[in-house]
Amino acid sequence: MKLLNGTATAEEIRKELIEAVRLRKKKGQKIPHLAAILVGNDGGSMTYVGAKVNACNQIGFESTLIQYDSHVSEAVLLSKIKSLNKDKSVDGFIVQLPLPKHIDELKVTLAIDPAKDVDGFHPVNLGKMILNLPGFLPATPAGILELLKRNKINTEGKNCVVLGRSNIVGTPLSILLARNSSPGNCTVTLAHSKTKNLKEICTKADILIAAIGKPDFITSDMVKENAVVIDVGTTRVEDKSKERGWSLRGDVKFDEVSKRCSHITPVPGGVGPMTIASLMINTLKALELREK
Ligand code: GUN
Repeated sequence: MKLLNGTATAEEIRKELIEAVRLRKKKGQKIPHLAAILVGNDGGSMTYVGAKVNACNQIGFESTLIQYDSHVSEAVLLSKIKSLNKDKSVDGFIVQLPLPKHIDELKVTLAIDPAKDVDGFHPVNLGKMILNLPGFLPATPAGILELLKRNKINTEGKNCVVLGRSNIVGTPLSILLARNSSPGNCTVTLAHSKTKNLKEICTKADILIAAIGKPDFITSDMVKENAVVIDVGTTRVEDKSKERGWSLRGDVKFDEVSKRCSHITPVPGGVGPMTIASLMINTLKALELREK
């Protein structure tokens, strides 16, 4: 079994981005600038946004963190998005999801200028993705493709099962893996909570991608021998051995599945760092596209 080490692969990308920033500086060009909006104090969201800002600092990108408490009105948030759309110093921005119930996530996503939508969540970017036109790919699916590519995993003609049909992971990933490209050219099955015979379907997968947010859901009897297993799950579970009281757990029962598969992503250190790396790639791309 080989570990698909997202931390190491993301580090490769980080080095390439540091070099890109160095070259831009040398030529007197603008430095990429990512802004992030965080609403409320959900622990997971705070950690993810903190990691995104940290990544910017490490690479040499500019970053701006905009924080609101959970009672912020939808109108205030929409007005901030309008001003970020107009702000020429900001190349791309994200609004960390989920948002509090009183805020309409779709309205918020639609308010973002697609040219600055480095999360790739706007319908314009999702539409471009489906038509294979240039645009921003959602960060987690793009990170998984990059992880497969850089670790030379052949996907052509493979049976791929994606578990979970979320707008930001499972659904776009199922489309990207079926496209006529590399990585791609898979025969994709998108499985979800209403899927019948799930175990049987999973055991046919040459590539199994779990994105359902249920810790330890995938057991070794659901995995084909020598499959490639990608674990997108990051659920916080109680862990008294840790000072903070919790640890991150994936959707895959790592100890038993790792004995059966050919490749597997760890949690943490698998898909997570690749998501952040993709966001950085998209931010640089947003600036480059604006300069054209
Ligand atoms: N919530 C969970 N994943 C993401 C992500 O990739 N981007 C944003 N904005 N929110 C998220």
